[in-house]
Amino acid sequence: MRRTKRIRAICAELLPCGVFADVGCDHGYCTQYMLGNGLCRRAVLSDISAASLAKAEKLLGGYIRAGIAVSVCCAGLERVPRETDEVLIAGMGGDEIADILEGGFLPPVLVLQPMRNARRVREFLLANGYALTRDFTFRDGKFYDLLRAERGTATERQGRERAYGEKELAFGYDNLHAPSADFAAWLAEEIEKCGRRIAAAERDVPALRGRMQLLREVHDETLRNLR
Ligand SMILES: C[S@@+](CC[C@H](N)C(=O)[O-])C[C@H]1O[C@@H](n2cnc3c(N)ncnc32)[C@H](O)[C@@H]1O
Repeated sequence: MRRTKRIRAICAELLPCGVFADVGCDHGYCTQYMLGNGLCRRAVLSDISAASLAKAEKLLGGYIRAGIAVSVCCAGLERVPRETDEVLIAGMGGDEIADILEGGFLPPVLVLQPMRNARRVREFLLANGYALTRDFTFRDGKFYDLLRAERGTATERQGRERAYGEKELAFGYDNLHAPSADFAAWLAEEIEKCGRRIAAAERDVPALRGRMQLLREVHDETLRNLR
């Protein structure tokens, strides 16, 4: 099985569990990884689109016939069993991911790969009793954010919780505290984009100037910490 770097990066964040669900599974590659490596007892494949779900049903037909995997066509978590231990939601917008969780239920472990607005996802998770145990940016052609969140009582979260301030919410905890070359490249690209917007604006835009200054500060700090 040869999968993209993005799919491999997502799979690397998945923990062994009892019941695993892939919401918006499309092809079903991540569930194939979980089942194929014996990392979950049962799996739920779900997608809002019957055509997308059919791809996963084809790939994982053997597991479905054996009763180890089930497929459900639904929006978000509507038909995903509440006893699910770990839920993956990848390749959707951050607002959509937060809305799905808000309208559904909160499983013990989440692996999330928002396509935009990761900040909304971070804020939602922290406000709902999750410790963010992984939160970083990686590059596979484009840049992606990847988060793992674990829920529990305050005592259970102790030792796993990491302090999120304004910068961690905006950029992701691991990017700031254990920076990578991919994050540095993302910052360089954002600085360039911001520069183009400033040049195109016909007047001074303080918000853009402020963003540029912040990006440069974080970029300089990242390069210092990378060396
Ligand atoms: C870009 S694909 C991502 C597929 C896979 N998760 C991945 O990361 O490669 C998004 C998938 O999510 C499904 N989807 C979009 N909104 C959804 C929702 N509210 N509930 C369930 N599935 C949804 C789409 O039908 C599509 O198959």
